[in-house]
Amino acid sequence: MSENHLACGLSLTITVTLMRALICEEYSGIESLRVGELAEPVPTPGSALIQVEAAAVNFADSLLVAGQYQMKPDLPFAPGSEAAGRVVDTGGIPGLEEGDRVAGFTGFGAMAELALIPEHGLVRLEDATSFDEGAAIPVAYGTSYHALVDRGEVKEGETLLVLGAAGGVGLAAVQIGKKLKAHVIATVSSDEKAEVARGGGADEVIRYDEIDLRKGIEEATNGSGVDVVFDPVGGEATEAALRATRWGGRLLVIGFASGTIPSIPLNLTLVKGNSIVGVFWGRHFMEDPQAEAENLATIMDWVREGSLRPHVQRSFDLEQGADALRWVAERNAIGRVIINP
Ligand SMILES: NC(=O)c1ccc[n+]([C@@H]2O[C@H](COP(=O)([O-])OP(=O)(O)OC[C@H]3O[C@@H](n4cnc5c(N)ncnc54)[C@H](OP(=O)(O)O)[C@@H]3O)[C@@H](O)[C@H]2O)c1
Repeated sequence: MSENHLACGLSLTITVTLMRALICEEYSGIESLRVGELAEPVPTPGSALIQVEAAAVNFADSLLVAGQYQMKPDLPFAPGSEAAGRVVDTGGIPGLEEGDRVAGFTGFGAMAELALIPEHGLVRLEDATSFDEGAAIPVAYGTSYHALVDRGEVKEGETLLVLGAAGGVGLAAVQIGKKLKAHVIATVSSDEKAEVARGGGADEVIRYDEIDLRKGIEEATNGSGVDVVFDPVGGEATEAALRATRWGGRLLVIGFASGTIPSIPLNLTLVKGNSIVGVFWGRHFMEDPQAEAENLATIMDWVREGSLRPHVQRSFDLEQGADALRWVAERNAIGRVIINP
């Protein structure tokens, strides 16, 4: 970290301390990202400042730096919505001490040496959980938990179909689906992804790149269909999955990694009395911080007891940050991908 002195008028000098970060200077996508210096975040009451050891890469990061996401931070900024590291300023959060190992939701700014985490998005990490694993938890596991529990109300014994089941949120949904005692059917596009989905607890796996998805679901359920669909993929898979739901089924709309937002004939919901349910974790985090803090606490209980562990596929240096985002955007990610600033 270095210091810049800005002379303002005759007598005022402002000291800006700089940190290394992956920087987005224009909304033109991954190719224009570069590593450089940004002003350090200013500690704020109620938010912990952390020395970032690991930041997880999400599919949405590539949309954010291309100006195609729901929010647009002021330029320049560092992408990265979740991080793990050590506390350097507690922000007055009760019980927190300098040096504590934590992880949490940053909004953006995680792919840098320092980042701010608000109290309700912050979790403590046991020594048994690595920083890479810690950074992999808040967004993917927070989203999948909120989707399956709050929005989908998945019950024990129900059948849950997870599309893109070896991706970040997909694999988290497989694991959390098993924690909820659902029968989990995973859909994936390669043998390697199938193996990881099975390792995450999937009871059955459909290779939707090889066989027709609807036919695959029919075979896997002996024609009875599924209760809940977790859909981070969109495109043609969405309608095929909705058509394979049972009476009273729920289609959880998570995202559109395929690049296509599907249009669904609404008669499909009428004839089966089922629901299309939107899921927006970041908004839930803002609207109901207490509920989200409780969700994250439950997830961390599972991590502490050893019954839930994020799958980290690979990690990149900060200098390779653009490569890390490209790796995820190009459908290579299996579980979570990490940047170590
Ligand atoms: N609603 C929310 O609150 C929320 C929160 C977090 C993420 N999301 C959204 O969820 C989606 C997945 O995010 P993620 O971080 O889990 O991404 P990810 O790790 O890249 O996983 C996406 C999965 O989608 C499948 N896929 C199908 N077609 C694809 C394509 N053309 N390009 C890339 N992947 C494709 C891939 O599985 P196969 O190769 O097996 O098909 C891949 O594993 C994104 O749209 C993201 O914005 C939404």
